[in-house]
Amino acid sequence: MTIYVDDELIEKVKDYSDIVDIVSDYVQLRRSGANYVGLCPFHNEKSPSFTVSESKQLYHCFGCGEGGDVISFLMKIENLDFIEAVKFLAGKYNIEVQSKRADDRYLKEKERLYLINREAARFFFRNLTNNKRPLEYLYNRQIDSKTIRRFGLGYALNSWDSLHTYLLNKGFKSEEIEKIGLIGRKSGNNGYYDKFRDRIIFPIIDLKSRVIGFGGRVLDDSMPKYLNSSDSLIFNKGNFLYGLNLVNKYSDRKKILLVEGYMDVISLFAAGVNYAVASLGTALTERQAKLLKRFGEEVYICFDSDPAGIKATLRAIDILLKADVKPRIIQLPAGMDPDEYIKKKGIIEFEKLFKKSINHIDYKINLAKSKYDLESIEDKVEFTQEVARILKSLDSPIEQDAYIKKISEDTGISLEAIQAEVRGKGSRNFKSQQRKPKISPVDTKVVSASMKAELDLIILMMEDRDYFDLIEESLDNIDYFTNEDFKSLYQIIKASYNGKTSLDREGVLDLYAKENPDPKILETVRNHQINYQLTRIEEIIGDLINTLKYNKLEKERNKILKQIEVLENKVNRSKEEEVALLNYCLELTRLNKEIKLIRHE
Ligand code: UTP
Ligand code: MN
Repeated sequence: MTIYVDDELIEKVKDYSDIVDIVSDYVQLRRSGANYVGLCPFHNEKSPSFTVSESKQLYHCFGCGEGGDVISFLMKIENLDFIEAVKFLAGKYNIEVQSKRADDRYLKEKERLYLINREAARFFFRNLTNNKRPLEYLYNRQIDSKTIRRFGLGYALNSWDSLHTYLLNKGFKSEEIEKIGLIGRKSGNNGYYDKFRDRIIFPIIDLKSRVIGFGGRVLDDSMPKYLNSSDSLIFNKGNFLYGLNLVNKYSDRKKILLVEGYMDVISLFAAGVNYAVASLGTALTERQAKLLKRFGEEVYICFDSDPAGIKATLRAIDILLKADVKPRIIQLPAGMDPDEYIKKKGIIEFEKLFKKSINHIDYKINLAKSKYDLESIEDKVEFTQEVARILKSLDSPIEQDAYIKKISEDTGISLEAIQAEVRGKGSRNFKSQQRKPKISPVDTKVVSASMKAELDLIILMMEDRDYFDLIEESLDNIDYFTNEDFKSLYQIIKASYNGKTSLDREGVLDLYAKENPDPKILETVRNHQINYQLTRIEEIIGDLINTLKYNKLEKERNKILKQIEVLENKVNRSKEEEVALLNYCLELTRLNKEIKLIRHE
């Protein structure tokens, strides 16, 4: 297939290619501050003056003055013309290209969609300037007319067809308008309706100043708070960031700030922060991570300070790390978002937050700290485990050691114990982890509940050979019965079945009575009624067995907790005791995990 090179392909190629990656094929680069340096391939030199900027996607040689972008680099070094260089990159990065004829039609169609969006944005903007209620709403939120213009904010009328009619009058077709997501089909194929109604409109504008989509916010507390254009031929939520057009225009790209909401970006910008962007109503994507990397030497995250914000921060951190970006995290006072903060405190205080920002490791550790009660031994152990998992992700042992020391000082957990955890083998794989119980057991904190479960199982076993088989199969260890009487009853039942399909219940109990001179349990067994729904019997048996397992593990856990307590309370522990303590702690964690699994938490 012939590759047809047009603006779009060039733009895509520039977007997808990474100059550091390309140059590295020819020049050995090493990091130096925010840039990479190496020996210039275009002239002879002994000390490196060839510099590549990842965030700007440019190279420059201070020795010979050669410089440019990824395309010009390839042209020069491979002796290609422009088109050839673009094709080379398109091939390397697997960028989809279309043959010329298909492309023409496709481009025309896209052009139309951009036009529709542009007209719609104009319409929304005019509505806003003509309507008091939305204007006041924005003024109340301290958004002035200059900011309104800069972001092209608008208002969708409280009407089912005003936009549709307006666009039809401009010569667009309903099918096109539907395709771009501004109108939807009424049910029963009965005409169309405007999707955005009575909402403040936030146009999403790309780097070429084209309107690619819209966000729309209600003016009150109704739901959904925001509507966003659906993805279309020209809009993909994961591929762009709200506010990037302005960052592109105004920011010095030293840093970029990722926030959660449209309103955050706008308030910050109005206050003078020209380097904030937000994702478009979805979780951060790898593509967006790459954009962040490109538009800021340092990437900061400042999400709402609420549980959802924390969750989103953790997710964003992971995505950014994948894109080789080490983000710094800015934390706001509880319940606040950047919009509120900058309005309350002003830009100076806001900028101070950057100095107080922390890296992703500290962020995760702080979070773990807040989750556990470090006065409790058990929590301390879990905390250490969690921290170890976090520190394992660090490549540098020196960095690891620094954190280990700090955490040991903070918590009083011995250096050796934390080290052992961090350096120890990766996550262990427990057999039980592979087969999660389908149903959760009844709560079994009370001893009598555990007794009842054991008793229920005994009765069921005697009731029906199938039940017995089922129980025997699932209960892989007789020791899950904690009551000795039940344990021996179980063995007698097993022996009595021996090939038979049914059981003489009284016979079994007699046998048992013979072997046990003081069989007070027999009364209990005789009088015990079970009333389960027999159609759910498999589930019920599973439940009961889980209860037994849970109790067994709880008992072991309590034993270990006692041992730990004894050792923890010792003033001078020997090396052996230190190791024993650690082992108990590890065993405790293992048990905790198994218990959690059984309880299906
Ligand atoms: P927020 O609820 O924090 O909104 O959601 P916000 O931008 O801070 O707005 P205000 O200050 O409450 O007016 C953050 C972002 O999540 C997306 C939007 O992109 C929003 O900006 N979102 C939120 C949706 O897409 N749909 C929703 O219903 C809510
Ligand atoms: Mn918010």
